Amino acid sequence: MNVLLLGSGGREHALAWKIAASPLLTRLYAAPGNPGIGAEAELVKLDTSDHAAVAAFCREKKIDLVVVGPEGPLVAGIADDLRAENIRVFGPSKAAARLEGSKGFTKDLCARYNIPTAAYGRFSDLASAKAYVEKMGAPIVIKADGLAAGKGVTVAMTLDDARTALDACFEGSFGAAGAEVVVEEFMTGEEASFFCLCDGTTALPFGTAQDHKRVGDGDVGPNTGGMGAYSPAPVMTPEMVERTMREIIEPTMRGMADLGAPFAGILFAGLMITENGPKLIEYNTRFGDPECQVLMMRLKDDLLVLLNAATDGQLAHMSVRWRDEAALTVVMAARGYPGTPEKGSVIRGVEDAAGDRVQIFHAGTAINGGALVANGGRVLNVTSTGGTVGEAQARAYAALDRIDWPDGFCRRDIGWQAVAREQASQQP
Ligand code: AMP
Ligand code: GLY
Repeated sequence: MNVLLLGSGGREHALAWKIAASPLLTRLYAAPGNPGIGAEAELVKLDTSDHAAVAAFCREKKIDLVVVGPEGPLVAGIADDLRAENIRVFGPSKAAARLEGSKGFTKDLCARYNIPTAAYGRFSDLASAKAYVEKMGAPIVIKADGLAAGKGVTVAMTLDDARTALDACFEGSFGAAGAEVVVEEFMTGEEASFFCLCDGTTALPFGTAQDHKRVGDGDVGPNTGGMGAYSPAPVMTPEMVERTMREIIEPTMRGMADLGAPFAGILFAGLMITENGPKLIEYNTRFGDPECQVLMMRLKDDLLVLLNAATDGQLAHMSVRWRDEAALTVVMAARGYPGTPEKGSVIRGVEDAAGDRVQIFHAGTAINGGALVANGGRVLNVTSTGGTVGEAQARAYAALDRIDWPDGFCRRDIGWQAVAREQASQQP
């Protein structure tokens, strides 16, 4: 098979690494990719917002499957435009990608199908949003409706913070994404990322992980796209997975089919495991980044076989096997992230840091004058496996400490919740 992978992050490097290991693969192309992906795939300069150009490339190179990494092209309808040209695509249609592209759409679906989630209101003007916030009180959560790279959410602990967040949305801090705002009840519990591989009808559980969204150790500071992750998430016991499938995922699959927008691709549920069971925080319609990196380390089966089955509506016949070990990834980010990261600083020692049970996935990197340099906010994902999360964590940080990048930073506590659980269970 010839495969074209779209995207340029750590998620796509992990996907490229796993696709490249498939005996089904003939050639892998990636657009635009990054230097790490370049070791697994032929990088192509394609403007992925130009769907006609992507289709022309697919015809020229006889591409058998297009795998779309990020949400942007999906929400823009790339899957529909390629399918219209008889090109096979792994990823949801534009109508199905509304599960990620519009928080209000998803909240309304939850209300209609009794899917447990936070109570909410939708607003397109500041005055009524503020009135709702005054009525509900703090803590409360303010969300820009559209895509905002994971940064459009404010968990406001005080009414003042909530008012400031509403002002920012309606003043255009998130561009068009903030023209509509969802205001939500604040939920408490432990968060988990839950993935399903979907073919329009069947949803197959596809792993669990825990992300670390805040920029600083101890979960402080602003939200980011994710500073590290591990898999599996211990809070997702078999019973919790079963409840999540029955109460959240299956009604969503039915609801999307009823709406004429059956969901095929990766359905990523951000969950809050509350006292009363799992509640949906949000959906994404793609793999998580950095969650994908840890899932790919643990996936035993051939990813291409599974993506083919999802694309062809054949998941009812499939199962997924995972390595019986933990995986953990630590994000190295450029100073300034999640604000304005500094670009261009030189990174040394990446090749030496990789090794037994350690993969270094590239995100925002570039080659400049023969040197590897930072070229984005999240730059490298140091990823490892171990018998326990603690063991994977020790291996990842040992590898990370071999990388020489004075202008980068990372959290030092990735995996803390799972490691604390492991230590508690070892107490006599
Ligand atoms: P989202 O981009 O919707 O995943 O939100 C980012 C983060 O904000 C989540 O991972 C949660 O930590 C937090 N969050 C979002 N919605 C809520 C909520 N209703 N209650 C509590 N925390 C929330
Ligand atoms: N790590 C969270 C996300 O990919 O949205």
